[in-house]
Amino acid sequence: MAELRPAEILLSEAQIQKRIAEMALEIRRDFPDDLHVIAVLKGAFIFLSDLARHIPGHVSLDFMAVSSYAKGTTSSGEVKMVKDLDTALDGRNVIIVEDIVDTGVTLDYLMSLLALRGMASLKCCVLLSKPSCRKAEVHIDYLGFEIPDVWVVGYGLDDKERYRALPYIGIPSR
Ligand code: IMP
Ligand code: MG
Repeated sequence: MAELRPAEILLSEAQIQKRIAEMALEIRRDFPDDLHVIAVLKGAFIFLSDLARHIPGHVSLDFMAVSSYAKGTTSSGEVKMVKDLDTALDGRNVIIVEDIVDTGVTLDYLMSLLALRGMASLKCCVLLSKPSCRKAEVHIDYLGFEIPDVWVVGYGLDDKERYRALPYIGIPSR
């Protein structure tokens, strides 16, 4: 079996779980009643599953997927929806859950797209942010951790589809 340990651990499993528990309570405090949480696949699947289990009370869930077209190593800034939601958002309190905001282009696209769908409120919850990489101005309502401009893996995040299932966030040797 191939060794799956990244070169360096940036955020431990305990650090991540502690912060997610705090974020979950913060979200529930802000939205004590109706709450609809949408994860952006694939990266946010583990984050969503832990977050949802820490939010007390009823939460409904949905998933969407987007792809951003890469030209070489830098994103072209073009985002396309590849899986839309299964449920309508009319009148709901909606939270988009994203793994990481880098340039901000993906989240900016998602927020403007969903904003047209008649929800009562729209917020975003992001595990990691690399603030030094922004190309689009995005406001993050609930943020897990700010990190430096390094490629990170684990806890849903991949490097060419590797490392997603790790319970912590690390920096791979490249
Ligand atoms: P943005 O549109 O540049 O903000 O990019 C957001 C997307 O790029 C995220 O949803 C991730 O899929 C991916 N991404 C950005 N940085 C990383 C990283 O360090 N590791 C893994 N994926 C990343
Ligand atoms: Mg993502």
